[in-house]
Amino acid sequence: MGRILSSEPQNEDENFVTIRPTSLDEYIGQKEVKSRLEISIRASKMRGDVLDHVLLAGPPGLGKTTLAMIIAHETGGHLQATSGPVIERQGDLAAVLTSLSSGDVLFIDEIHRLPRVVEEILYNAMEDFQLDILVGKGPGARSVRLSINPFTLVGATTRSGLLTPPLRNRFGIALELDFYSVKDIALIIKRTASILGMKINEECALEIAKRSRGTPRIANRLLKRARDFATVKSENTITLETIGETFRAMKIDSHGLDDVDRKILSKILNDYHGGPVGLNSLAATMGMETETVSEVYEPYLLQAGFVARTSRGRIITPKGYAAIGKPLIGFENLDLEE
Ligand code: ADE
Repeated sequence: MGRILSSEPQNEDENFVTIRPTSLDEYIGQKEVKSRLEISIRASKMRGDVLDHVLLAGPPGLGKTTLAMIIAHETGGHLQATSGPVIERQGDLAAVLTSLSSGDVLFIDEIHRLPRVVEEILYNAMEDFQLDILVGKGPGARSVRLSINPFTLVGATTRSGLLTPPLRNRFGIALELDFYSVKDIALIIKRTASILGMKINEECALEIAKRSRGTPRIANRLLKRARDFATVKSENTITLETIGETFRAMKIDSHGLDDVDRKILSKILNDYHGGPVGLNSLAATMGMETETVSEVYEPYLLQAGFVARTSRGRIITPKGYAAIGKPLIGFENLDLEE
């Protein structure tokens, strides 16, 4: 079972857990998400109920795992974490569900990638805390119903539209996370810097924030790389000079775009004459999975206005054109979709 469940979500960086906020009070930004969670958690505590199931949707790095940990902390339940693709069979999920104590929080990351047969046993588990599993094979197979302890499922996905309607409809609390403002990212950077024992002033925090694509995970990563540059100079203050060195080394431009983003923009521009190009063709030219382009790279490029959706595919915008250093010509007659 160790393979499937962990009580602490894995992270590329073992220090990360310590810089994550552990309560809603410490959590910066996502005002609406926070206040909806605050109300529901308070109400469930007052009623003595377990918190209703929570769906967190949004691009990677915005704090879905952090929120799952906060929900467990605030409700007083234990967090058990797993992810859609590692639960391959009904039995895997049954083992996870029967191991839960009353009030536990089960976090399933990438819940849209649960196999369909596994997803189907989740329906009754979510609704009635009952597990219907098939025991045996062939004509002797029979269905067994087990009761499980009341729990809160926190599901995370990059887009709620990727979930099947029966699964999506079983979440009482569906929350969409959005990219953070530069101001909120700067606050997160200052908070992380102080936890790491580094000094950073407002101007420097804003410089990093502007290049963080509205994403705390990226902001914290950039801050840590800047800290590396500061450490080798035996400094514990992050200066503008250090930030400049960091961005040059990481090939991050003034918009926060990296090599992959710039390659996407130049492919649209050079291979497809600025677009429109369908997502599948674009991903194929990039040598990437369509899902990686659509879920990881495209949301920020769209939100920040470097790329736009038209009725016939993706196009590069004047801003995208400018970001890769091209002059603005020929953008007069575009049929942009809202
Ligand atoms: N670290 C990562 N995300 C954060 C957030 N939303 N608030 C505070 N610290 C964070």
